[in-house]
Amino acid sequence: MTHIAPADLGDIPQLTALEEQSFSCDRISRRQFRYLMTKANSIVVKAEHNGMLTGYMVLLRRKTSRKLRIYSIGVTPSARNQGIARTMITYAEEMATKNNCCKLTLEVCEHNSAAVQLYKNTGFHQYGLKKNYYEDGCTALLLQKNLVPKDTIL
Ligand SMILES: CC(C)(COP(=O)(O)OP(=O)(O)OC[C@H]1O[C@@H](n2cnc3c(N)ncnc32)[C@H](O)[C@@H]1OP(=O)(O)O)[C@@H](O)C(=O)NCCC(=O)NCCS
Repeated sequence: MTHIAPADLGDIPQLTALEEQSFSCDRISRRQFRYLMTKANSIVVKAEHNGMLTGYMVLLRRKTSRKLRIYSIGVTPSARNQGIARTMITYAEEMATKNNCCKLTLEVCEHNSAAVQLYKNTGFHQYGLKKNYYEDGCTALLLQKNLVPKDTIL
């Protein structure tokens, strides 16, 4: 069973190792993880399976916006295709609803077929794109998912 919990500074070495396994460019550095956990208006969570860190997700909030952005998500290669990312997306939806946000947003490289499929299968739709968005020149697809905010649930 996958358990989602807030990540803390002690998790940073494993998180940066997971970044290296997951991305060839635009990786979150050790320093950026520290900033995200201590200073930014963000939520950093880890997925644990049998006590092992198997995934993470970074959510970014903005005070003036009712959108919650999935800034990054990754799953350890040996733990993929077991529903861990799907569980984290569900968690992001719960966080958005709790924070009275009405949308989840994210960017994904158009060539990242696993991630594009993940978002398609979890109800995201494309509303735009940004050419040359990533360090390697890849185009980003801009995706979003509309949610029902807490204050409108009867
Ligand atoms: C993309 C990623 C996060 C998916 O994690 P995961 O835990 O393996 O995904 P899940 O097992 O939760 O799969 C969720 C859905 O996505 C689909 N999916 C996941 N990987 C897939 C793949 N390689 N090919 C096709 N579909 C895939 C699954 O079919 C599943 O759909 P379903 O539940 O309707 O069957 C993982 O491959 C990863 O960490 N990749 C490297 C980092 C990355 O690209 N992050 C996204 C940046 S935007």
